[in-house]
Amino acid sequence: TKNQNGNGHPANGQSEKDNANTDDQTLTTRQGHPISDNQNTRTVGSRGPTTLENYQFLEKITHFDRERIPERVVHARGAGAHGYFEAYSLVGNEPIAKYTRAKLFQQKGKQTPVFVRFSSVIHGGHSPETLRDPRGFATKFYTEDGNWDLVGNNLKVFFIRDAMKFPDLVHAFKPDPVTNRQDGERIFDFISNTPEAMHMITFLFSPWGIPATYRQMQGSGVNTYKWVNDAGEGVLVKYHWEPKQGIKNLTQDQAEQIQGKNFNHSTQDLYEAIERGEFPEWEFCVQIMSDDDHPELDFDPLDDTKLWPTDQFPFLPIGRMVLNRNPENYFAEVEQAAFGTGVLVDGLDFSDDKMLQGRTLSYSDTQRYRVGANYLQLPINAPKKRVATNQRDGQMAYVVDTAPGQNPHVNYEPSSLGGLKESTKPGPDHTPYVAGNLVRQKIERTNDFKQAGERYRSFEDWERDDLINNLVGALKPAHKVVQDKMIELFTKCDEDYGRRVAEGIRQDNTGHATPNETQAEGVRQAAEESQSAQP
Ligand code: HEM
Repeated sequence: TKNQNGNGHPANGQSEKDNANTDDQTLTTRQGHPISDNQNTRTVGSRGPTTLENYQFLEKITHFDRERIPERVVHARGAGAHGYFEAYSLVGNEPIAKYTRAKLFQQKGKQTPVFVRFSSVIHGGHSPETLRDPRGFATKFYTEDGNWDLVGNNLKVFFIRDAMKFPDLVHAFKPDPVTNRQDGERIFDFISNTPEAMHMITFLFSPWGIPATYRQMQGSGVNTYKWVNDAGEGVLVKYHWEPKQGIKNLTQDQAEQIQGKNFNHSTQDLYEAIERGEFPEWEFCVQIMSDDDHPELDFDPLDDTKLWPTDQFPFLPIGRMVLNRNPENYFAEVEQAAFGTGVLVDGLDFSDDKMLQGRTLSYSDTQRYRVGANYLQLPINAPKKRVATNQRDGQMAYVVDTAPGQNPHVNYEPSSLGGLKESTKPGPDHTPYVAGNLVRQKIERTNDFKQAGERYRSFEDWERDDLINNLVGALKPAHKVVQDKMIELFTKCDEDYGRRVAEGIRQDNTGHATPNETQAEGVRQAAEESQSAQP
């Protein structure tokens, strides 16, 4: 029957219940009103004008107007998948319980469901997946003790070691506020005044800055965390994901070949591999260090611009992760997923790493803005475990986190009238002693160049050549003061490094382009030069 009442209600007294029973594929409004005409707006005569009371039309358009939420301010472009983590119960040859009482690790073969979101950092939600950029590797473990998020990157070090500098770092890499284009001059203006970034820059402008796919890259927690055992004793720990698929990175030239044809190649690769039943897998490894400031090392263990040398602190496997299920809906699961460095379970703890502490404020703060105050009630973010809190209300609250039998009048604690109660302690608290003057100071052992130089020398020739080409390409259009400062910093890392960048820049000094354009130009020129040098 043609709906005559203008708002989608079934006509002729037919009840909505009847309608739902007769055809469960019937299109409805969000109010449950069946829609019998989804093609024509309600108008005065077939030529219009339209009428304003057309509720069905208004609902459809106004919801569409609100389809986007704010993008992540960083890591906007991403892809995700579900899977599981399986524990080995050992760390090296020792029972893992010696170091951590976290339940998910204790039993050999124990599986914990996970959701992983991979991402690139700087550009928007549909930007090419071939861009030179760190890649995010964020894992949500839905453990029996509640959620644990490990929010990591593919690269194992970072640009800065103090959270105070993060907005400046991101502004320098994001598009210019006037031209709306990413600009190598702005990037290197900031970096040339930020010597602690040299290790990360050396990785980023090499092929390591463009992983071939998400499946073929490592992951790392980057910041230093702690493990706490049954006695409440802590050790420092760093986390690493090692891909069973192997590691593959792209030169700028290879990335351009892909980008010309497909700017979604990593999302496609992940989705299609899982659909084919080729489930990507990573081994989960840790590095462990006793919990002190290690004066014998030439770097600070809490400094996230440094690697812990693997000869002294070997990678110890503690489990593996398999991704075996694609999201059913990108927005509901991948876009609304919210990871944060504060989300730890018993047996895991924060180190004194000030960068990690800064991050811990930022994630849940941005998610309350980006997704909403009740973002943790969404299925992708809610723990699989029962939740019972006295947090109430707020926009879009749709469950009340009560325990069975809880007195619904008591949304406070403590109470003698049937409210929620504190749990028993899972073990002794970890109570490190902290003392010092309140200061604003850099760490003492900055040592900004040594590991960057080691990195430069450790690369294979093709990686080093690509690194130089990419840096020269990005720096050529920059102001001389920026070029000179960068050459000085590269030289401090390794003389050959500084010399090769300087020579590359001196050959030509014109133009003004984005890093990706200028890197491309650098590679093209190098290719032309090497071709013309051939007999
Ligand atoms: C995302 C802040 C450093 C990895 C984000 C977001 C913010 C943020 C605000 C958006 C989150 C959202 O909208 O849900 C910061 C701050 C940092 C910092 C303030 C430094 C002080 C790092 C470092 C890593 C990292 C060192 C790597 C270990 C990630 C990842 C995401 C992310 C992987 C995307 C998470 C997802 O897939 O939803 N960060 N970040 N960040 N950050 Fe950081």
